[in-house]
Amino acid sequence: MVSDLLEINDLRVHFPVKKGLFQRPKQYVKALNGVDLNVRQGETLGIVGESGCGKSTLARSIMGLEEPTSGEILFNGKDYMNADAKDIHHMRRDVQMIFQDPYTSLNPRMKAGESIAAPLKAYKETDRVEKRVRELLELVGLDPDTDYHKLPHEFSGGQRQRIGIARALALEPKLIICDEPVSALDVSVQAQVLNLLQDLQKKLGLTYVFIAHDLSVINHIADRVAVMYLGKVMEKVDAGSFQSQALHPYSRALLSAVPVPDPSEERRLDRIVLNGELPSPADLPSGCVFHTRCPLATERCRTEVPVLEEKHNPNQKVACFHTG
Ligand SMILES: Nc1ncnc2c1ncn2[C@@H]1O[C@H](COP(=O)(O)OP(=O)(O)OP(=O)(O)O)[C@@H](O)[C@H]1O
Ligand SMILES: [Mg+2]
Repeated sequence: MVSDLLEINDLRVHFPVKKGLFQRPKQYVKALNGVDLNVRQGETLGIVGESGCGKSTLARSIMGLEEPTSGEILFNGKDYMNADAKDIHHMRRDVQMIFQDPYTSLNPRMKAGESIAAPLKAYKETDRVEKRVRELLELVGLDPDTDYHKLPHEFSGGQRQRIGIARALALEPKLIICDEPVSALDVSVQAQVLNLLQDLQKKLGLTYVFIAHDLSVINHIADRVAVMYLGKVMEKVDAGSFQSQALHPYSRALLSAVPVPDPSEERRLDRIVLNGELPSPADLPSGCVFHTRCPLATERCRTEVPVLEEKHNPNQKVACFHTG
C-alpha cells in the first residue's frame, strides 16, 4: 500500500472583502470551500479546473503562503497548520514550488547560480554551495560553467524554467507543487520541460502536485487527476481513466471542450457544453456549487451538497447525485 505524503481535509480559505478601511468584512471570497485531497508518495497528482476555481490558492496554502480559514493539511502525517515554528521550518524545506512564469519569480539582477544558491543560504547550508549549485545546473540540463554567471534575461523561457526547477530542488524536497509550470512556454519547449520533470521524479523519488489548464499536459504527466470547481474537488480519478471514464458532468464538460484529434473517432462520452459564466466565489450557489451550469441538475442539487463518493472503482470518487 502506497502511503499518503500529503493529506488535505475540508480545507477552506476565505478572503475577506473589505468595503472600507475600518469596516468589518461582510462578504468573503471563498477561494477554497472544503477541499479534500490526498497525494501519494511518488505520484503526480494533476489538478485541473477553470480559471478562478482555487488552484493557486490551494498551491499557496500547501506552501504555507496562505493562512487557511479552517481544515487540515497533513504532511507525512504531521499537522502542518498546528505545528510549532521549528517543525514548520523543517517541513517548508520538504515542500517547494515551481511557478508559471520563471521570469517574474527570478530576481532579474541575480545570476542564475546565485538564484539557485538562495534557498541553501536561507537554510544556512553554506558548505560547498558552489559545488552543489553546479550539480543542480547539470541536473536540469544547463551548463555549470557558462550558465552559472548569466542573468535571467540571457536565457530562453525554457532555460529560465530549468533555473526555477534547479532552485526548487536545492533543498532536496520531497514534494514539489508545480503551478502551471509550462503554460507560458512554446509547445515544443513544454514537452522538454515535462520530460525533465519526469526524469527528475524517477531519479530523485519526487512527488508532484501539478496544476494545469491544458488537459493534454495533464494527460502526459499525471498519475491521478483531481477536478476542481469553485473551491471544491468534484472528482478524483486515475489519469488513464480520466478521458474515457470521467463521471462528473463538470469533468465531462472540460473534456468536451477539447477538440478530438481525429474527428472520425467517436467520442465515448456525450458532449456537455457549459452554460453561462463561472459564478463568483464571493456569492457561491447553494447546494452543489455546479448546479447553476449543470445539465443534470435537479431540485436536490439546489439544496444538498454532494460529497465525494466512490464510484465504479476504489480509485474514482465523484461528488454528484446523478452519476451512477
Ligand atoms: N488574496 C486574495 N484576496 C482576495 N481574493 C483572492 C485572493 N487570491 C485569490 N483570490 C480569489 O480567489 C479565487 C481563486 O483564485 P486562484 O488564483 O486560486 O484561482 P486559479 O484556479 O489559480 O485560477 P487561474 O487558473 O486563473 O490561475 C479567485 O476568484 C480569485 O480572484
Ligand atoms: Mg492560478
